[in-house]
Amino acid sequence: MKTPTLDLIEEHGGIMLMLSIMSKVSEKLNAGDEVKKEDLNKILEFLINFADKCHHGKEEDMLFPELAKNPVNLEFVSELIKEHKTGREYIKNISAAFENYGQENSAAREMAENMEKYVQLLTKHIAKENGELFPIANKELSNDTQKQMVEQFEKFEEDVIGAGKHEEYHKWLEELKKNYLD
Ligand SMILES: [Fe+2]
Ligand SMILES: [Fe+2]
Repeated sequence: MKTPTLDLIEEHGGIMLMLSIMSKVSEKLNAGDEVKKEDLNKILEFLINFADKCHHGKEEDMLFPELAKNPVNLEFVSELIKEHKTGREYIKNISAAFENYGQENSAAREMAENMEKYVQLLTKHIAKENGELFPIANKELSNDTQKQMVEQFEKFEEDVIGAGKHEEYHKWLEELKKNYLD
């Protein structure tokens, strides 16, 4: 059966691959190697649309509110939302530094620093969700609720990133993986 947590775990897989790519890119930026603007653009769009708007959106708009109906989960859920917010700040900093990349010497270092912070934050965040939050969701949400949520996720994805975009992002991931990790 398709479940909301399986969908989110699959997206975590894509995000974790992006985190590995970002580690390598930040190494290059720190070493003063040139990184193609086109690649940095793809990384930023993936972070903004796929990781934040789509994935964190599904969690914040649908999964978390459902889990927060049980007061025992409130604190954990608000901790995870706070981490999403911190991640957004890092993405904003990467975007701002990207605007000056190639013109200001500090831009590469700033991008690298914020990429590293983002990688650290999201690595821990994803481990918490996969290892602690999702088992709670699987246990506490009824089959009907889970079924409905899967449908809501599908509709949300279409509205937020549009049909076909998901596949394109996976293609980008494969390309970036080849360029930076293989
Ligand atoms: Fe999350
Ligand atoms: Fe997540």
